[in-house]
Amino acid sequence: MKILAIETSCDETSVALIENGAILANEVASQISLHEEYGGVVPELATREHLRNLVPVSRAAFRRSRLEPDQLDAVATTRGPGLPNALVVGYQFGQAAAFALNRPFLGVHHHEAHLYSPWIGGEPLRADFKRFEPNVSLIVSGGHTLLVHLDGLLEHRVLGSTVDDAAGECFDKVAKLIGLGYPGGPQLDRLAEGGDPEAFHFPRPMLKESHFDFSFSGLKTSVRYFLEKRPGLLETSQSLQDLCASVQAAIIEVLVTKTIRAAKAMEVGLVTASGGVTCNRGLRQGMEEATRKVGLKLQMADKGLCTDNAAMVGILAEIGLCRGRDATHLDSEVIPNWALEDLVEGSSVSRPLRAVWQ
Ligand code: KG4
Ligand code: ZN
Repeated sequence: MKILAIETSCDETSVALIENGAILANEVASQISLHEEYGGVVPELATREHLRNLVPVSRAAFRRSRLEPDQLDAVATTRGPGLPNALVVGYQFGQAAAFALNRPFLGVHHHEAHLYSPWIGGEPLRADFKRFEPNVSLIVSGGHTLLVHLDGLLEHRVLGSTVDDAAGECFDKVAKLIGLGYPGGPQLDRLAEGGDPEAFHFPRPMLKESHFDFSFSGLKTSVRYFLEKRPGLLETSQSLQDLCASVQAAIIEVLVTKTIRAAKAMEVGLVTASGGVTCNRGLRQGMEEATRKVGLKLQMADKGLCTDNAAMVGILAEIGLCRGRDATHLDSEVIPNWALEDLVEGSSVSRPLRAVWQ
């Protein structure tokens, strides 16, 4: 099955072409430099940039894949959650392509797509679901922090999520507070490498509670109070690095501890993780050490696929179509606040198009 996939939910314009689990192309145009001077994503600018980028990015994807549009079997696009107008650009583009080609159209849940990105890997890139097993998955990005239990392919249950800021947002806000540029996460990560994670102690929010929710807004506030009491602390580069390492250690400890606890509670043998924050070297290392210690397997998204991309959208769409998921109406709308909990399995459709790539 050949699928055209589109992702425009935030600040990455991405187009992928998928064939039977293989990723023939996954082009991503990032808008980071555009939003940098504003210190965050400006929705109106993101929307216009998607409009400008979608056709050239699609052309690049088709060129790389050597596919022609009339060879496609279906078109898939992120339907939500995300920035409303940014979503609309990609969604309409996908609907128009499906309409013109007379092919099924699939509106995909962005977080459900993230759940499958740790299964994509190797060179050439392809997804490997022969090895699929029940797992607990951590999604950590600038907009979301979620723990999800996957009992089987397309079967998931949300265990917990953030009650306020996402982990990436916490990285970005702390980075801004200490004068780093946008997005702050990667810069904080680099500075943390030369610092002592035990130099300063910051709270580990909700670490002790037995539920699987997170809260990160208090951590940013405690860093602000901490700095107000110590004017001049950041004047030496070692203290700056120590502060970054200590804040990062607090975020990582909460993420890792809750993920491992959830995996044990759900009695799974595998932990997976994806989303922009999984690029963080400390988190990758923390996850590796913690899973090894308790005998769990770990599968994190490849660094190039942690952040938003259309490959994960296409891979999920392909599994969905093969397993009989309904196509989405061409006159459907985006769902900017779509919660993963509200995604109901739409399997009323006739028969699967084809078995998942044998
Ligand atoms: O998944 P993503 O590209 O976009 C969404 O938010 O959906 O994630 C971006 C987030 C930003 O908050 C960014 O600071 C964070 O991921 N991030 C990192 C690192 N790389 C990206 N946070 C910590 N360490 C990193 N190395
Ligand atoms: Zn995302």
